[in-house]
Amino acid sequence: MVVDSRKSCRYINVMNILLIGSGGREHSIARAITATSTYQKMYCAPGNPGSAQYCENVAISDSDISGLISFAKEKAIDLTIVGPEAPLALGIVDQFENEGLAIVGPCQAAAQMESSKAWAKAFMKEFNIPTASYEVFETYDSAVDYVTNTTFPTVIKADGLAAGKGVTVCFNLEEAIQTLKDMMQDKIFADAGSRVVIESFLKGEEASILAFTDGDTILPLESAQDHKPVFDGDKGPNTGGMGAYSPAPIVTPEVSQKVQKDILMPLLNGMKSRGIKLKGIVYAGLMIDNGEPSVVEFNMRFGDPETQVVLPRLKTNLLEVFNAIVDNRLNKINLEWHNFSAVCVVMASKGYPASSSKGDVISGVSSLDTSETQFVIQAGTKQDSAQLLTNGGRVLGVVGTGGSIEAAIQSSYQAVELIQFEGAHYRKDIGAKAVKVQ
Ligand SMILES: Nc1ncnc2c1ncn2[C@@H]1O[C@H](COP(=O)(O)OP(=O)(O)O)[C@@H](O)[C@H]1O
Ligand SMILES: [Mg+2]
Repeated sequence: MVVDSRKSCRYINVMNILLIGSGGREHSIARAITATSTYQKMYCAPGNPGSAQYCENVAISDSDISGLISFAKEKAIDLTIVGPEAPLALGIVDQFENEGLAIVGPCQAAAQMESSKAWAKAFMKEFNIPTASYEVFETYDSAVDYVTNTTFPTVIKADGLAAGKGVTVCFNLEEAIQTLKDMMQDKIFADAGSRVVIESFLKGEEASILAFTDGDTILPLESAQDHKPVFDGDKGPNTGGMGAYSPAPIVTPEVSQKVQKDILMPLLNGMKSRGIKLKGIVYAGLMIDNGEPSVVEFNMRFGDPETQVVLPRLKTNLLEVFNAIVDNRLNKINLEWHNFSAVCVVMASKGYPASSSKGDVISGVSSLDTSETQFVIQAGTKQDSAQLLTNGGRVLGVVGTGGSIEAAIQSSYQAVELIQFEGAHYRKDIGAKAVKVQ
């Protein structure tokens, strides 16, 4: 028998953990690990003031892979968990594994599912995963030709990574041409927009399903719904996400079954048939129309802000789940959930998503320190001695929980009222769709 030295050193309860990333998602992961598991020491690279409540933050960028490897060796890290997409696209998982370091995340080949939308669409087409029909364009002229003869709305997507801002739903030709000009000529997303995917518009309501996978078993988490556009009523440009709630009532048990059978299993089997070991976290962005789910996109990591509402509901020891992913024994894990609902309202800084503001003083966060049902997940923040300052577009996620989605909405907005910073803006209708469905 071949003994895997990586396994023998991961004793649950005394593990040293390295979490990579600096957003609300990473604060949420750190919080959930602490709530469900015990460990020896947790580090976050580079982290934020929120992750610092649980971890020692270390000033290593999430894309400095050799720096992260050296740190993991120096601190005898037993398990590394990757939050954001950028290091995954750079191949952090392959490089850690080559060094014999245990890590939760997809290999670079699997991460293409997120780092190239054209790659993802071709994969879905090949394995019959329901999704919008599409074309790929490498030149501005050919893309303009195409939209000149298409029907609206139509959806234009930068092929590469664009921090959740690379997709525009266009309602007329003028908008489509402007979008193509921005992406392909003015390069607002740099190389990520050199190639575009143009796809048919899917109607319906969106929901997100996260799942853990070790390549053989895929375990869905409880459902959630994000709110991408910046303004109420889903108006305005797309953002990284303005809020979320869980569970999403649109994901009925019948829809869940279809997601497992028609989406998650074909994803797993498709990866297998391409010889790619799929491991880590899968995120399926869904459009559900009349009970029929199709895929808007797959991500290969925890969603932000969905994680903020899904992980607080998890009862199962999260470190044990991560260990099971690394050791290929996810079939032994049974996920258990709290019954409450959770709502996260994102408070953004002035100008977001077009720009963002930095250095404004945030007040009120500590007034929630003692609450069991309301808490703040930090994203674009910075600690400056005693003051918490804004430091990015999405500043905070304010989470409220409750026995129903209505109660959770009330709880989160009540908490939002306690927090202030110059130029703060947030949507007032997070969760409203869930109330309508019930
Ligand atoms: N085919 C489509 N039909 C309707 N809306 C879409 C479609 N594709 C994307 N969208 C909208 O744009 C958002 C962002 O698209 P997505 O593919 O998830 O890219 P990303 O999350 O990388 O920005 C989606 O959440 C959805 O609101
Ligand atoms: Mg998306």
